[in-house]
Amino acid sequence: MKKKAAHAGMKARNRENTIPGKSWQARIGASEDRVAEKFVESLSFDKRLAEYDIRGSLVHADMLAKVGLIHRTELERIRSGLNSILDDIRAGRFKWDIRQEDIHMAIESALVERIGDPGRKLHTGRSRNDQVALDLRLWCLDAAAALHRAIIDLQQAFLALAEGASEIPAPSYTHLQRAQPIVFAHELLAYVEMLDRDRLRLLDVRRRTSISPLGAGAAAGSTLPIDRAYSARELGFTGVTRNSLDSVSDRDFAVELVFAMSMVAMHLSRFAEQWIIYSSTEFQFIRLADTHTTGSSMMPQKRNPDMLELIRGKTGGIYGQLIALLAMFKGLPMGYNRDMQEDKRLVFSAFDAILPCIEMAAAMVRGVSINSAVISSRIDEGFPDATVLAEYLVNKGIPFRTAHQVVGKLVARCEDTGITTLSKLPLDDMRRQCPVIGPDVFKSLGSANVLRAYRSTGSGGIKSVSTQIAWWRRAIKRAAVELSEPEHR
Ligand code: ARG
Repeated sequence: MKKKAAHAGMKARNRENTIPGKSWQARIGASEDRVAEKFVESLSFDKRLAEYDIRGSLVHADMLAKVGLIHRTELERIRSGLNSILDDIRAGRFKWDIRQEDIHMAIESALVERIGDPGRKLHTGRSRNDQVALDLRLWCLDAAAALHRAIIDLQQAFLALAEGASEIPAPSYTHLQRAQPIVFAHELLAYVEMLDRDRLRLLDVRRRTSISPLGAGAAAGSTLPIDRAYSARELGFTGVTRNSLDSVSDRDFAVELVFAMSMVAMHLSRFAEQWIIYSSTEFQFIRLADTHTTGSSMMPQKRNPDMLELIRGKTGGIYGQLIALLAMFKGLPMGYNRDMQEDKRLVFSAFDAILPCIEMAAAMVRGVSINSAVISSRIDEGFPDATVLAEYLVNKGIPFRTAHQVVGKLVARCEDTGITTLSKLPLDDMRRQCPVIGPDVFKSLGSANVLRAYRSTGSGGIKSVSTQIAWWRRAIKRAAVELSEPEHR
């Protein structure tokens, strides 16, 4: 027993003279266990936080010097040590060793190895608990900014396509059954709307993420005279967290970000489904660029929309990450718990799935051709002008419900007599059903007329859609500079 304790003590002392081992080894004196080491490590995935970790440490050291906890000369040593580590990591020269457990220990150990004692002062007034919270916040801010940029690019792609489709008559659908005529651009702009809500959601998440937890320590803060506001400012945050315990407990910002990603995924998945349908032989509304389809190993004629299917397919995985995060946090007691280490894996995977989906979608929108001839050739089939005929009757003083019934009967009459569009129904047939109908009815019927007749704000007619396009042209320009705060990350 005695011998073992002495041995452990020696081991700990030796380590003091070399590089710091695991953060807890000095007390526990644990020897190595490969299974446990491999199980507990996060370095294999959190090394992705390296740049953020070093940025945080540089500012932390700066603050320590400013408040007199380390000497200026020590600060200089720490700085050059951290910068050399950063250079090595960027150049792919850094030796990663999972025995260092995580990115925080890996960098700190390398620092002590390179500069000795001043490196041992870096961790003054902080814990890995506020450090990891800081790193993840910095990473999430950047990730949200990258998604924001990608979304704007996709919006621009949709807008450009809409500009060329602003007068193509197309059906709108409810229940995937023909509803009312619109110009095709109206549907494209609906995606721009969805994406804009996603974009704003990301900005909103960023607002709550941009608060510094650094200096919260392990749980309750520090008795040392650290200046949290200074570090926060230097890191580009808008402020500091108010409660140290919440600071190390909270990952809401990361969960919110994955929710925002899930919403983007949901929108893209619906878009993918729509275009899979539109590119089918049954519809032929659009033709995807050759590079955005794949062939079949057996059927030579195939142009499969695999990229769209993958966008739709990846959505399930992203939802999975969100649910995993929500489930993981629901049982955690207050404070830091190691379960939280898993959050990074989930947030990173969601991000790695969604960003390429947005980029792929933008490329597909840019590469598509719209078969306007096919879309318009059968535009009046399915009686999409029926609602306008009812509104024609409303203008003649007929109550809408009555008008609805009248038109229903006229549609039935068409179907019974094999007439495919309302405008081909003889006036006499119409008047028999409702005598107020006059020859002017033909000015209302047919999609071309309907598209000129829409009056309500936001409708799918030619005038409204050109107003929308003009509005988006300005709005997207504004959005692109909305996140133009100096990219300190
Ligand atoms: N690798 C850990 C994580 O990602 C860092 C924090 C460790 N803190 C601790 N008290 N064990 O969550």
